Amino acid sequence: MSGGRESGQLNLIPGREPVPGSEISTPPWYGRPPRPDVDPAGIPDSMTCAIPDDTAARTDLVTRFGFEISSCLKCSLGETRTNFVFGTGNRNAAVMFVGEAPGRDEDLQGEPFVGRAGGLLNQIIEAIGFTREEVYIGNILKCRPPGNRDPQPDEVAACEPHLHRQIELIQPVVICALGRIAAQTLLKTTASLGKLRERTHLYQDRPLVVTYHPAALLRNPNWKRPTWEDMKLLKKIHDERVTR
Ligand code: URA
Ligand code: URA
Repeated sequence: MSGGRESGQLNLIPGREPVPGSEISTPPWYGRPPRPDVDPAGIPDSMTCAIPDDTAARTDLVTRFGFEISSCLKCSLGETRTNFVFGTGNRNAAVMFVGEAPGRDEDLQGEPFVGRAGGLLNQIIEAIGFTREEVYIGNILKCRPPGNRDPQPDEVAACEPHLHRQIELIQPVVICALGRIAAQTLLKTTASLGKLRERTHLYQDRPLVVTYHPAALLRNPNWKRPTWEDMKLLKKIHDERVTR
């Protein structure tokens, strides 16, 4: 079983991603060269080039996009971050998890979900037969809010276009929103987590399911059982759409 996916035919190919940033090249369909020292003021809200129907090319675009926005200063969190936390995993993943924002460990390491909540997320991912490497993991915000406070509306407004583009490029078959903030942001709702769970929503025409945030599960282990129900729904949606 694999969370990977071959372009077009949804055919599974287990495999590892190259190290992010190690394989940047300029595909012919891409009009601009990489911009490592891009002027932050000139960072696009989202890139608008066509999305190629080719796995390797799309993977390359995700890497390039992360590179392009990594010096973002569209909100004040850009000034306090240690690292920009773009996302991790298979850039051609069928399953994408979206959390809230980097915490301390993530800010220090530049990778989402590497702290205690991340350890639990890895277990959740493995419980439905995937590995961390074959899914994709990102956040609503790419930079850590000081003291891990909730993301502010202006920060979400500045950062969400990045995630939107990231999802557009990765083209996951199913998305899992982790926790209330991710769910409410992606679904543009103020409904409670309880109301949003146990249903299949759509985000940009892609199925999206909602579950508890792993950090919440650490505080309240009683929510692990309902989380398992959510993960079974996620797996079912995946298996209906991705054939081996
Ligand atoms: N599956 C794919 O289709 N592509 C990858 O790069 C990895 C897994
Ligand atoms: N919590 C999140 O929402 N995201 C992370 O990356 C880490 C903790």
